[in-house]
Amino acid sequence: MKFKKQIFGFMDMLRFKKLVPNRRKALAEGADTPLPTEYRVNQMADALHPGRMQVELVSARPLPGNMRELVFKRLDAPAFPFFRAGQYVSLQSAVGNSLVSRPYSIVSSPREALENRLVLGVEDAGFFSGHLVKDAKPGDRFRMTEPSGEFHYETLRDSGEIVCLAGGSGITPFLSMAKSMVEGDEPYKMTLFYGARDLAHIAFKEELDALAEKGLRLIYVLSDEQRDGYEHGFITAGLLEKYIDPHSVTFFLCGPQAMYDFLEKELAQYQLPRKAVRRDPACCGNREMEAPKTFQLTVHVRDKVSVIEAHENETVLTALERAGIDAPNKCRAGGCGYCHSKLLHGDFFVEPERDGRREADRKFGFLHPCVSYPQSDMEIEIP
Ligand code: FES
Repeated sequence: MKFKKQIFGFMDMLRFKKLVPNRRKALAEGADTPLPTEYRVNQMADALHPGRMQVELVSARPLPGNMRELVFKRLDAPAFPFFRAGQYVSLQSAVGNSLVSRPYSIVSSPREALENRLVLGVEDAGFFSGHLVKDAKPGDRFRMTEPSGEFHYETLRDSGEIVCLAGGSGITPFLSMAKSMVEGDEPYKMTLFYGARDLAHIAFKEELDALAEKGLRLIYVLSDEQRDGYEHGFITAGLLEKYIDPHSVTFFLCGPQAMYDFLEKELAQYQLPRKAVRRDPACCGNREMEAPKTFQLTVHVRDKVSVIEAHENETVLTALERAGIDAPNKCRAGGCGYCHSKLLHGDFFVEPERDGRREADRKFGFLHPCVSYPQSDMEIEIP
């Protein structure tokens, strides 16, 4: 093949010859002010994704149904990061010799976060939650993860009309979602069915009624009490059809497992696509078991090795926390991958619907301690 020489080829060579002297000249003429140590893009990334935050409990008030409202302010920065309504934070603290943490849905709106205010609604339903409901007092300090989670509205996936079904303390993420809609930060129209035993067990009623006056469509459903203006019974398919068209909406569910089981059957008749029914995953708790075995768990954290006890009916993460080991975790439901650890030796059990590991993780021996139950002595390496 023949190449034809062009005049521009010689021009390029001339330019190339001048490249180094031109560069030297530009450097000599340039300003000698030092480069900035901080860039706006990094500051923005830090503000939105601080990782862990130091927070202080500002105030607390009792709520119906063994719940308590907890209001926090951030100590290590002037504001909480903006988040998606429906997300959670994980709160961590030392209780006795244990280092425990639990995820809680955020009740306040993303805008309130920018005013350094973040509200949680905690139900007394376990070791750490019980501590928060009964013992935590204003001035107490905690570590908190940045807001996380996929239980939020997504324009591309979800319908413009969302129907939220709440049971008991499962009302918490929907308060944030309703506030965010009313404040103009979300584009959806929201209908909320809130199931409670009776009027006395409705948490955040005042706030919900105020939101109903500003655009939230709100239906209270009382199972044990009949009252004018309230639905009676459970959230059934028949009740849903009275208010909405189930085929043109996206459902968001949050509540106890019994409610999920019940609603799954009610919604099954509509044969909805999987993406049309979104559930807030619950934490993975202890398994019901008679006389669970106790195993030896060897834990590597960088260059430190600890040997602790792990019971067959509890997750590996619970065993780590009981021993005071600071193991990373967020969702405690197998979904976020934050606790991702290496299995060096031993067996464990994980329920298939909780197993959020990638295929490669399974193949190369990684586990999520938050949903893994020991089945033998184990040796693991945590980040
Ligand atoms: S903490 Fe989220 S997967 Fe384990």
